[in-house]
Amino acid sequence: MRVLGIETSCDETAIAVVEDGRKLLSNIVSSQVDLHARYGGVVPEVASRKHLEMMMPVLETALGEAGSVIEDIDAIAVTYGPGLAGSLLVGVNAAKALAYAWEKPLIPVNHLEGHIYANWIGVETLPQLPALGLIVSGGHTDVVLMRQHGDYERLGQTVDDAAGEAFDKVARLLGLGFPGGPAVEKMARTAKHTGPQLPRAKLDGPYDFSFSGLKTKVQRIVRGEEGEVPPREELAAAFQEAVVDAVVTKAVKAAEANGVAEVLLSGGVAANLLLREALAARCPLPVRVPPISLCTDNGAMIAACAYYRAQEVGEFDPLALDVDPGLRIG
Ligand code: KG4
Ligand code: ZN
Repeated sequence: MRVLGIETSCDETAIAVVEDGRKLLSNIVSSQVDLHARYGGVVPEVASRKHLEMMMPVLETALGEAGSVIEDIDAIAVTYGPGLAGSLLVGVNAAKALAYAWEKPLIPVNHLEGHIYANWIGVETLPQLPALGLIVSGGHTDVVLMRQHGDYERLGQTVDDAAGEAFDKVARLLGLGFPGGPAVEKMARTAKHTGPQLPRAKLDGPYDFSFSGLKTKVQRIVRGEEGEVPPREELAAAFQEAVVDAVVTKAVKAAEANGVAEVLLSGGVAANLLLREALAARCPLPVRVPPISLCTDNGAMIAACAYYRAQEVGEFDPLALDVDPGLRIG
């Protein structure tokens, strides 16, 4: 089954063709990073207009690279939430139009569920369920028990900023560009000494996170309110270490307590090398991490997820689909 996956929840216009939920035939991502960099973050209006402009060229390239024409596609999958309403609308309306005009089934996909399915793409052996999904992105930090395809229980989440959001805010404090995650990671690598010890939040929920206090602490240090200001590289390293430690500690605890077979890391922050290495080193269970290109937003993860969704969705009226910007998982 060939699925065309469309993803426009934030600032990437992304379309991919995936066969049987795991074989990647094409994966085109048109990033708007340069467009938003001058504002230091994603501007929703600008994002949706760019999605409109890029939708058809990205679609044509994605089909072309897959050696397909639209007639070869068995279903159209699209992210309908969570994300920016205006951005989601562009993808959802494009998907509805394609499904309606070409009489293809339309499969709505939850972006967060999609992130987890990046772990199904191109693998030799499929992930074993139940698994622990760890979604660490710009908008979410969720610990999810995945019992079956489509059966999730959210065990923990962030009570304030998402991990990626904290990376982006700290990058701004350190005078680095947008998106902040890769910039902070790069700078941290050049640190000669361990930086200051930064706090780990203590929360009631055993698998919940909080990153805003950490960001405020970095802000106080940068402003000289905590004494001598350490080199920026050391602050970047100390911050990264604190985020990774919090995420890994809770993920390992959740995995052990819930008897899962594997841990599935995903989301933009999963591109972070320290996080990838620390989780693999500290988790006694098998850990899967998607290739870096499938960690940040892409259409392939949406198409992969849709393959497993297709059976449940059945006959779905393409014109009935609407966006759900506040959609959650579990
Ligand atoms: O999953 P994603 O592409 O979009 C959302 O669904 O949010 O994640 C984007 C987030 C941004 O906050 C970005 O700074 C972060 O992922 N990120 C990283 C790295 N690469 C991207 N954070 C830490 N280290 C990285 N290497
Ligand atoms: Zn995402």
